[in-house]
Amino acid sequence: MSERVIINDVGPRDGLQNQPKILSVVERLELIRALQAANVEHIEFGAFVSPKAVPAMAGSDDIIKMMQGERGELSALIPNRRGYDLAVEAGTKTVAMVAYGSEGMAQKNVRMSRAEADNATLQIIEQAKRDRVKVIATIATAFECPFDGPTDAGVVAETTAKFLEAGVSSVVIADTIGAANPGQVKSLMTRLVSDNGARQLACHFHDTRALGMANVFAGLETGIRRFDASISGLGGCPFAPGATGNIATEDTVMMLHQMGFETGIDLDKLIRASDLAEQLTGTAPGGRSKPWLKPFLERQNEKQNART
Ligand code: COA
Ligand code: ZN
Repeated sequence: MSERVIINDVGPRDGLQNQPKILSVVERLELIRALQAANVEHIEFGAFVSPKAVPAMAGSDDIIKMMQGERGELSALIPNRRGYDLAVEAGTKTVAMVAYGSEGMAQKNVRMSRAEADNATLQIIEQAKRDRVKVIATIATAFECPFDGPTDAGVVAETTAKFLEAGVSSVVIADTIGAANPGQVKSLMTRLVSDNGARQLACHFHDTRALGMANVFAGLETGIRRFDASISGLGGCPFAPGATGNIATEDTVMMLHQMGFETGIDLDKLIRASDLAEQLTGTAPGGRSKPWLKPFLERQNEKQNART
């Protein structure tokens, strides 16, 4: 049996939060449905953040209310306790709390120090245990910060161990601005895997400098089997200058399948979801695989139809 890799599509959150065009709740739900149709079982559906700070994420409560009891892991990003309370009140069962590898990013994103943000996360983890809510902790700017420069790997290692010990389901090591190279990924993830094992670790890459797939490969080599990706490569953080699109889900899935990994995702339907993302946002598609994949999948379907 081939090895399984989990893909968490953060397009409906990381992808949409920075688009010039703000999608309606109905359109966002349509995109989520297209991902589900492609068998994407892990989806970050929205964020419980100030609608003044990020207008594109308003109405995330309506989205989760319409998805109660559905299969898969539907998570929401939360920046603080207020976000946690609103998320859980609306019926969210998995929250993705943001922590920071650097001071500058913590200040810009949530106007807290790194230590304050860590403490807020630890308190939320305790509350979440009582509420039976799953917590994912994302460490933003884990490699480099647009304000402070290179991140201290020791800080990331300490933070990771602290959250795992506190009981999070996984820790996501995020290259928020796409500044990491595969050598750095290999070095940091080797250290974290050696400290904590790979099972509860994940990586989050942006493809700012076309190093996204190389970074996924480096992560795979260290044993990481869970990655965030964004449909059609949508993405970017409004508070992190230089952050462009996430790695495209279709590029990642294509590479994984060709390398013999299993994701459970239907690539044909994923391309349809990517087309929909492109159409809804009106932006040029990110990623590189789609123009190659479309004729390839068509030929494959024709062959299959000829056989049946
Ligand atoms: N959900 C909804 N509203 C929130 C909120 C949340 N999680 N956190 C704060 N707010 C609201 C406050 O109620 C306040 O509203 P008001 O102006 O109508 O009274 C407003 O945001 C500002 O609150 P304030 O007390 O000045 O700041 P804060 O420290 O509580 O919150 C942030 C500030 C940074 C958390 C908030 O602006 C935010 O959600 N930013 C988005 C971060 C983000 O999504 N980054 C990208 C992804 S990593
Ligand atoms: Zn991101």
